[in-house]
Amino acid sequence: MGTVNTRPHVVLGVTGGIAAYKACELLRLLQKGGAEVQVIMTRNACEFVNPLTFETLSGYPAVTDTFDRPERWSVEHVAMAKWADLFVIAPATANILAKMAAGIADDMLSTTVLATAAPVLVAPAMNTGMYINPATQANMNVLRNRGIHFADPASGYLACGDTGVGKLAPVEDIAARCFELLGRKQDLNGLRVLVTAGPTREMLDPVRYISNRSSGKMGYALAAAAKARGAEVTLLTGPVSLTVPEGVHAVSFLSTEDLLNAMLDNAALNDIIIQAAAPADYRPVNVETQKIKKQHGEPFVLTMVENPDVAATVGAVKRDNQTFVGFAAETEKVLEHAAKKLEKKNLDLIVANDVTAPGAGFDVDTNIVTLIARNRQQSLPLASKREVADAILDEILRIRA
Ligand code: PMT
Repeated sequence: MGTVNTRPHVVLGVTGGIAAYKACELLRLLQKGGAEVQVIMTRNACEFVNPLTFETLSGYPAVTDTFDRPERWSVEHVAMAKWADLFVIAPATANILAKMAAGIADDMLSTTVLATAAPVLVAPAMNTGMYINPATQANMNVLRNRGIHFADPASGYLACGDTGVGKLAPVEDIAARCFELLGRKQDLNGLRVLVTAGPTREMLDPVRYISNRSSGKMGYALAAAAKARGAEVTLLTGPVSLTVPEGVHAVSFLSTEDLLNAMLDNAALNDIIIQAAAPADYRPVNVETQKIKKQHGEPFVLTMVENPDVAATVGAVKRDNQTFVGFAAETEKVLEHAAKKLEKKNLDLIVANDVTAPGAGFDVDTNIVTLIARNRQQSLPLASKREVADAILDEILRIRA
């Protein structure tokens, strides 16, 4: 019986910047920390550092292009993508960031990073003018919102003679981020997580319905983050235009009553339940079987009846070893209303967000939240919904510890 390799696999991508030589030191730090490292270099990187250097340090051929036939790798150019437990690109030039944002795959590095399911960390390094250029900034925002992790560049004297932001982050910091991501990678292993996401639709007649502005992005980010950290994830999803994250089991709902039924079928099976969905509190008392006709100038009066509170219903039967998380979508007295919901719905944690704040709440890629647990409150700055999702998962693990 062969020994199981427990050393984490790191693919180190090196691109053509003057800081490419620092990737040698990063490789050594990763190896010292117990990782096994393979290197992919762009053609331009080879102008700065000889591939033989990385081959000697890593003990593997340094792969430099899709069409190389490295003797150790199958012809399938995604072999390294599958081998990786973590993918780090350091230095990351403006060019590779642009390619990743656009999904371009025209060499081994861009092809492999596009194909990998492993967490990806990039460490940008470039001239200040290039770094602050709106194009580069936009590309980095796209990547952040997709869950790409960043080791942000430092400021100081640059090789091109300028002084400003754009220096590769200290390799010790990059290595620390790598081990943090490797460590966090499986910290939900063995746990079953149920996430709800999106709006509901309460029908008036066969044509019309009442809904709300939830896009599902917050819930989908939570499902993706939990899956990436090793959980078995079930996603109860309202009608949204998002793709279910790979490996996540999805169950669709339309109305709040549909959501309640799906929740009752699934809640007891899960260790953690995170309710990011926006279920309607009311539904029309009558659903017409025919399309409602205009009343020739008469006002149209709609009578609505209260929907069940799904969170409160399942909160009432929560087991001690389950962790229930809700959200509070507020427009005023945010923390006060959220704290009341924490109690009323028997939650362990509530995520409060002011849905009128710029960059927060419905349909945007970012959020600004305060995490309110029974014995702790933590306000987070504006961040991508994926980063907010990871922070929520971190807090859940703290509560469960
Ligand atoms: O989907 P996005 O576009 O990314 O937007 C994200 C979000 C703003 C929808 C999300 O961050 C959020 O705030 N979700 C909760 C929205 C909501 O319904 O909040 P609420 O304060 O009305 O409800 C409080 C809690 O009770 C929520 O966990 C909700 O899921 C739950 N609830 C509400 C009503 C109801 N009938 N049953 C419930 O279970």
